[in-house]
Amino acid sequence: MRIDLVTIFPPLVAGAFEHSIVKRARDRGLVEIFVHDLRDYTSDRHRTVDDYPYGGGAGMVMKPEPWFRAVEALREQGNPGRCLLLTPQGRKLDQSLVQRLALEDRLILLCGRYEGVDERVRAHLADVEVSIGDYVLSGGEPAAVVLVDAVVRLQPGALGSSESTVEESFSEGLLEYPQYTRPPEFRGWRVPDVLLSGDHAAIERWRRQQQLQRTRERRPDLLPMVDDVSETTSESQDR
Ligand code: ADE
Repeated sequence: MRIDLVTIFPPLVAGAFEHSIVKRARDRGLVEIFVHDLRDYTSDRHRTVDDYPYGGGAGMVMKPEPWFRAVEALREQGNPGRCLLLTPQGRKLDQSLVQRLALEDRLILLCGRYEGVDERVRAHLADVEVSIGDYVLSGGEPAAVVLVDAVVRLQPGALGSSESTVEESFSEGLLEYPQYTRPPEFRGWRVPDVLLSGDHAAIERWRRQQQLQRTRERRPDLLPMVDDVSETTSESQDR
């Protein structure tokens, strides 16, 4: 997969792709990531990317020309891919959208500043507008970093075998079960006995029950997405 990211702050995102799983995926050749400076696609001496809003009002609006020039130039290199604009007005990112995006050969991510991007960029350049949640960031950059991380870890071979187990259980639509490591007692807080029992079937049941309980308490909205809720609600028998 190839990911191109266009921003006026390349250093804000570049470092995020030089560590951990994303770095390893790049090193393994599973994903190519290129960060482009929008100002390289301006045509004036001051490398201007914004201008006053028509109709007046506070703040500046990002001009359309550099975005179009950037995407058109990038599309001359390789296939057109899917062009995403990161904006709080977009479709909310969730694991199912991540899974779909992870199948694309190429993503072009446009990181607008929050105050505004000329409407013609949304209407005629972006294929999809994506939000990472109902809160306002100063710009799309942190959102793009989140999206890239979530998409890259789904590339075949990006995760080690222990990491992929974790992935599987989240994509089931349930929250994670509680995890413990040594010591068995810390400041009087004990690790649940079942985890020390060596009884793998009991551990499995306990974890499933914890996942369901947690999801029910914290994110009941996720539960209808689990196909086998009725089958797994037998956890009450395990208490
Ligand atoms: N830009 C500003 N806020 C954002 C958000 N919540 N998601 C995506 N892009 C944004």
